[in-house]
Amino acid sequence: MSDSPEGAAPARGRLFLISVGVGDPDNITLRAHKTLAQTDVVFCMSRVRNRFADLLAGKPVHEAGHGLFTPLARRDASDAEVDAMEGQTRQTIRKALAEGKTVAILDYGDPCLYGPQAGYLHEFRDLDPVVIPGVSSFNAANAALATNIADGAHSRSVLLTVARNADAAYRGDDRLDKLAETRSTMVIFTMGIDLPRVVEQLSRHYPANTDVALVCHAGEIERQSVQRATLATVLELVGKNPPPFEHLLYIGDFASTTRDVGTPQGQKICLSDTTRASTLGSATR
Ligand SMILES: C[S@@+](CC[C@H](N)C(=O)[O-])C[C@H]1O[C@@H](n2cnc3c(N)ncnc32)[C@H](O)[C@@H]1O
Repeated sequence: MSDSPEGAAPARGRLFLISVGVGDPDNITLRAHKTLAQTDVVFCMSRVRNRFADLLAGKPVHEAGHGLFTPLARRDASDAEVDAMEGQTRQTIRKALAEGKTVAILDYGDPCLYGPQAGYLHEFRDLDPVVIPGVSSFNAANAALATNIADGAHSRSVLLTVARNADAAYRGDDRLDKLAETRSTMVIFTMGIDLPRVVEQLSRHYPANTDVALVCHAGEIERQSVQRATLATVLELVGKNPPPFEHLLYIGDFASTTRDVGTPQGQKICLSDTTRASTLGSATR
């Protein structure tokens, strides 16, 4: 499967889906860097291409599209356009692999977590593609919050979901109001968020003073920020500071500073209940 014991160096004629991490370029892993350096042909989006211009210099770089081989690609382009691009991409990849070249599709974050290039894994499953993992916005945002998000006063669970699960048209079993029933810490990938609708569904189960944080541009040292509010105040906060596309929304008691006091019932005391900023506020790191 690979030339090296670590599995880092590409074997000839292999297909990779490589994460370059999120935010600053130095969030790429050593394995991803090494594998990319030895790749012959690359497919990526321009946002990734620009960040790794040095590493990609001299390699044929093709446009990877957004959501190719999934319905996502057809949301903003005609069927004819998508069919043509998918056909061309299929041909280029299979030809390169048949010639013994190594091909890499680049993505950011965790490609297997709402990643726009995961369709390649299904399309080329007969070729046994290899995924090189990377830092997700979820990992980088947790670091920005600098707390154990799975150790709240009332819950030790974290649910990862998307804002669109609040849509009226959504028919899945995991609508936001249903997920909210457990009052676990919830981390929402926000693409296309309708925040008033999200807040309305969450408020059916979380108390109004539940902590909320918006982590923007996670992993980018210069731009990363954490804005804090509660379920009752977050709409006002966002009205004043509309967040960028790159933000995650946290809801729950992830902001608590908890201490196991060793009671017979194993109860925890939430030390921050009296001190936490429960009103509108923002902290930038
Ligand atoms: C299509 S998903 C891709 C997620 C990606 N696979 C990951 O693991 O980070 C895009 C969403 O991820 C989140 N996101 C991506 N980059 C981010 C960043 N640097 N900071 C915070 N959130 C980010 C936002 O919620 C954005 O709407």
